[in-house]
Amino acid sequence: MLKPIIMAGGSGTRLWPLSRGNYPKQFLPLAGKHSMLQQTLLRLNGVEHQPPLIICNEEHRFLAAEQIRQLEQGVMQILLEPVGRNTAPAIALAALQACQQQDDAILLVMAADHVFTDVEALHQAIATALPFAESGKMVTFGITPTQPETGYGYIQQGQALNGGGFTVARFVEKPGSALAQQYLDSGDYLWNSGIFLFKASRYLEELQKFRLDIYQACQDALSEQTPDMDFIRIKQHAFEQCPAESIDYAVMEKTDAAVVVPLDAGWNDVGGFAALWQISAKDEHGNVLSGDVIAHDTRNSLVRSDDKLVATVGVDDLVIITTKDAVLVAHKDKTQDVKQIVAELQLAD
Ligand code: GDD
Ligand code: MG
Repeated sequence: MLKPIIMAGGSGTRLWPLSRGNYPKQFLPLAGKHSMLQQTLLRLNGVEHQPPLIICNEEHRFLAAEQIRQLEQGVMQILLEPVGRNTAPAIALAALQACQQQDDAILLVMAADHVFTDVEALHQAIATALPFAESGKMVTFGITPTQPETGYGYIQQGQALNGGGFTVARFVEKPGSALAQQYLDSGDYLWNSGIFLFKASRYLEELQKFRLDIYQACQDALSEQTPDMDFIRIKQHAFEQCPAESIDYAVMEKTDAAVVVPLDAGWNDVGGFAALWQISAKDEHGNVLSGDVIAHDTRNSLVRSDDKLVATVGVDDLVIITTKDAVLVAHKDKTQDVKQIVAELQLAD
């Protein structure tokens, strides 16, 4: 049976000032009344699975625990990372933990901050992927690309396999813009959705092959677990020694065992305010307005106010976000660069 692993340790800096260090994107209700984490868990209804394991930063343990409790879906485990080391170590901890609890679970690794409009299609893709994972393949789910986005992994589709998957001819994580354009034009590539399905033992084998240092640090970090309510705590010092790397660079670019299953489920990773505008319901002028907002002669804009009245006149394609302590005004086409502001703020700390 599947064991869902929910990666909820990211910082979501491109959605500042909504997404903050102490309250990142995955804990916010960005699309609907549930938070992104809650939506991720609800999306599993209809797929037979073991209790999910959520991996997040220790700092967010009560936020995660409370949001999970609200769903009333039974007990879930929360593995706490004392520091963020990106997704390769996070998944290694999950895989090691799963192997301790059970012979060899199949891990469904999901990001906690994606949206889907067609959950049924996601469930079907998971069913298609399952036999490949059972036979020892490292399955990724591929999305048909629509623009030369540089923030994604690109998967070159190889041969069609029986059962609906394809071999992976090449996996390139976050190519530069010229390459991304070339991949898009070729029609051969899919975006990596950031969802994976594989046996826990298989991931650990591949990680040992390509990044023994990460494997060993994670094994050491898990060798002493301190139970604390539903939380699993690990050895801080050992995990601090672990190199930071994503699964994409550490394993998926290198493995020969990758299989891609196409996924057409209205996937969006809400990578910035332009994406948030795209997935939200709009008024007749293409605006997404929330909170105390008056928009006059305003088109295709996202305006969100948490606390004060915001009025706009004669503007198009703007993103305006106000929170208690910050106001962001940005052109909708430039919202990827919001992370630069966060970087500057961090330098100033
Ligand atoms: N527990 C934990 N610890 N989770 C983490 C950590 C960490 O240190 N770092 C990131 N995450 C979580 C994030 O919260 C998110 O849910 C997921 O892991 C992916 O991390 P991102 O930082 O959002 O990755 P990305 O968007 O740059 O790239 C990945 O996703 C793309 C699709 O959205 C890659 O897999 C790309 O290949 C892919 O195209
Ligand atoms: Mg992401």
